[in-house]
Amino acid sequence: MSSPQSQSDQSLLTAIRGSFLDFVDDPFYVAEEDSARYVPDGLLVLEAGKIKAFGDYAELQGKYRDVPTTAYAERLIMPGFIDTHIHYPQTEMIAAYGEQLLEWLDQYVFPTEGKFQDKAYAEKVAEVFLDQLLSNGTTTALVFAAVFPQSVEAFFEAAERRNLCMIAGKVMMDRNAPDYLCDTAESSYQETKDLIQRWHKKGRLRYAVTPRFAITSTDEQLQKAGELLKEFPDVYMHTHISENVNEVAWVKELFPTCKGYLDVYDQAGLVKERCVFAHGVHLTDGEFQRLSEAGSAIAFCPTSNLFLGSGLFKIEQAKSADYPVKVGLGTDVGGGTSFSILQTANEAYKVAQLRQQKLSPFKALFLATLGGARALCLEETLGNFEIGKDADFIVLDPRSTPLMAFRNAPATPATLSALADRIFSLMMMGDDRAVQSTYILGKLIYER
Ligand code: GUN
Ligand code: ZN
Repeated sequence: MSSPQSQSDQSLLTAIRGSFLDFVDDPFYVAEEDSARYVPDGLLVLEAGKIKAFGDYAELQGKYRDVPTTAYAERLIMPGFIDTHIHYPQTEMIAAYGEQLLEWLDQYVFPTEGKFQDKAYAEKVAEVFLDQLLSNGTTTALVFAAVFPQSVEAFFEAAERRNLCMIAGKVMMDRNAPDYLCDTAESSYQETKDLIQRWHKKGRLRYAVTPRFAITSTDEQLQKAGELLKEFPDVYMHTHISENVNEVAWVKELFPTCKGYLDVYDQAGLVKERCVFAHGVHLTDGEFQRLSEAGSAIAFCPTSNLFLGSGLFKIEQAKSADYPVKVGLGTDVGGGTSFSILQTANEAYKVAQLRQQKLSPFKALFLATLGGARALCLEETLGNFEIGKDADFIVLDPRSTPLMAFRNAPATPATLSALADRIFSLMMMGDDRAVQSTYILGKLIYER
């Protein structure tokens, strides 16, 4: 321990002391006490942006006594939240009145996305968007850009400057949208390929092939998307599915020979691992089974599904033991009404209530962290405090408003059941005000 080598190693360490909560398993399938890991007085030791050690302060303090340590009293430290579906160009038109999906796209979304042809404009919005994610405790997201390649460039450049782990892609859409937003099957293939070659796996960035949805892509374009997944087997695929009943009916008309909505994507080779489908409100039993077999994931977007009147996602079916599907939470801004994953969990709970189901705070916060990491195939590096993972984490304040402070006593919960009550109130009442600090690769990059 006292060799010169280990002394110089220790000089590179920093540490965080406080109460920690993360997940080591999935509470939909394993008892909550075995899946949630609560350390009321813990120490997280960081080295070069990664987790070097994690455990009880009493056990680790001897070994790391001289390491500079930041202590957070009366706070809860968690892995950074993961947003598995969001649109950065829609930041400015969040909360647009009065329409459901197809009319809302025509009236609000398409005109807004047209502005992203201008790279300087895209750069400005990318900064606002990333500021919003970080101030809401979201450290990783799967992101729709716009149809213009420069909108992806602007986003990745901004994410790279902040050392963020982000997945994004250029929208592919070659029909049923205004001309100024349409590419072609061939141009979308070429532009996507160029962007993959430039950005996929550049540092912490990853590329997602991003056909908007079956309505705005010809079969030829979907086939091209499938070709890209074959050529680049470790890129992602990101799209929408079965969000709205009129959308589902139109897909049936557009693809009369397909067995159903998912089959449209399946026939193009777009249903496999690393494929993430947003919404899935109206999926059939057979479609849930197929997603399970394929290892694909669903982004559950409750604020959006309520705001656009799309319907109630069947979380208990997606997380069934027989046909388990990977699920993460998605804000779906600007169809969603908040950047906050806490507020998204709040609405997820209410969606479950309307279906006579219970979404416990542990289940919801699993979806927000390790569940999201698994949905995005990022669990090797993100999602909890396992040693060796990237040190992206957040400091939450369960007493961040006068009412929350009145409801929650200052004392640190001693047991998992006391913690359950506190984190449930945090997810129902908390928002960006509850996010005190956000750390990326062990560095404080946002403080309220
Ligand atoms: N389906 C196709 N495009 C979109 C979009 O931008 N937002 C949502 N919520 N659904 C979509
Ligand atoms: Zn969306």
